[in-house]
Amino acid sequence: MKPSGVMGSAAGWVMAHRGSNRARNQWTVDLLNVQSGDCVLEIGCGPGLALNSCLARVDVGKVIGLDHSQTMLDQARARNAEAYRQGRLELQLGNVDGFVVANGGFEKIYSVNVVQFLPDPATTFQKLYSHLKPNGVAATTYLPRNKNPSRVDALEMAKNIAGHMEAAGFKNVRVEELPLRPFPAVCVLGER
Ligand SMILES: C[S@@+](CC[C@H](N)C(=O)[O-])C[C@H]1O[C@@H](n2cnc3c(N)ncnc32)[C@H](O)[C@@H]1O
Repeated sequence: MKPSGVMGSAAGWVMAHRGSNRARNQWTVDLLNVQSGDCVLEIGCGPGLALNSCLARVDVGKVIGLDHSQTMLDQARARNAEAYRQGRLELQLGNVDGFVVANGGFEKIYSVNVVQFLPDPATTFQKLYSHLKPNGVAATTYLPRNKNPSRVDALEMAKNIAGHMEAAGFKNVRVEELPLRPFPAVCVLGER
């Protein structure tokens, strides 16, 4: 998924305004317990909803949004224009498997509704682990997208994500559920 052009802009608008998507993004940032002074990385930031929630909490730290869609980064920048001007927000155009950071690591790394698009999740979670500081936390939120999705589908994906995270070295891996109707979103969290 790489939103672009008019359709991509429309998809970003829908993501930014749909109540359930706003709730999932806010919930993920709350679960991560993002704090002032944290360095935070979001993978697949889309129109920048969760970045906005992080920036409300992080004043002296740094928030980075990565996405391989320039259309999405443009929306994320517009949504968080003041923080971008102040240098508190950095936006990187690129693929999750190719990004480079020069800041010595992150306290928090997360994604919302991106994991299903990763071609090689095992390698991606190894990479995310290597970019976390000791005791740093990663969170991966997922909402089932298959035909007639159910809670079982959400929990099945959560189990897969947890397996990748444990194989990459994450400890204290746990699954949280956000009870949306008609099926929940799941978030898998783990620590370095
Ligand atoms: C369904 S959207 C979710 C956007 C946002 N996280 C939200 O919940 O509103 C998925 C986003 O991930 C980005 N994306 C998908 N695969 C990616 C990859 N391999 N590297 C970087 N970004 C990716 C897409 O461009 C898109 O913005």
